[in-house]
Amino acid sequence: MDPEEAKRQVAREALRFVRTSEVLGVGAGSTVATFVDALGASDVRPRAAVVASERTRELLERIGVTVVGLGADLIPLPVYVDGADEIDGELRLIKGGGGALAREKVIASASALFVCIASEDKLVRGLGAFPLAVEVLPMAVHLAARELRALGGAPAVRDGFQTDNGNLIVDVRGLDFADPATLEGAIGAIPGVVECGIFARRRADVAIVGTEGGVRILGRPTDSPVL
Ligand code: A5P
Repeated sequence: MDPEEAKRQVAREALRFVRTSEVLGVGAGSTVATFVDALGASDVRPRAAVVASERTRELLERIGVTVVGLGADLIPLPVYVDGADEIDGELRLIKGGGGALAREKVIASASALFVCIASEDKLVRGLGAFPLAVEVLPMAVHLAARELRALGGAPAVRDGFQTDNGNLIVDVRGLDFADPATLEGAIGAIPGVVECGIFARRRADVAIVGTEGGVRILGRPTDSPVL
């Protein structure tokens, strides 16, 4: 299927999970941008949104949705909608192709239900073909690269890129993803690492996947969206 059509399908389906009276968590990336378009074209309006990127903030404000910070009174957010670069059979993810992984992980971890939206080319048997994005404090980049090499990876600083938090992204190839949650912990323990793009400890609860045969919903709840 045309990936853009798949994005439109999953975006429309994800609207079923949006509660009009609640604050919605919204991630980053092109699938999320399509979701915001679908939201704008619908009657569904969350009370406000907490966002993972400045770009998502712009898109939501353009359709009239107020963006707010992640206040203590908002945790847990009922629903978080975001895309992914890879999704495995246990709904563990690789994210961060767009470099927004740190805020994405904060919002995902602060949410009761993480709804991942993606085209079926994002489904994988095992994570790790997509380069793993690691957000690093600028002054720690050489130390972090050394530690990532010690873990078996081949790190490369993303050229000319700065995150919304003012940090660098190191993209890492060649890591062993046999145990994604342990790898996530090991990378997170490197001094100067803000976050990495493995979402195994806080994986998605539901994946809405656009396929040739239509939309497939993986995980829970399969037939009872939050309404
Ligand atoms: C942003 O940092 C990412 O985590 C995105 O959610 C992910 O890269 C998916 O992006 P697309 O929807 O553009 O494929």
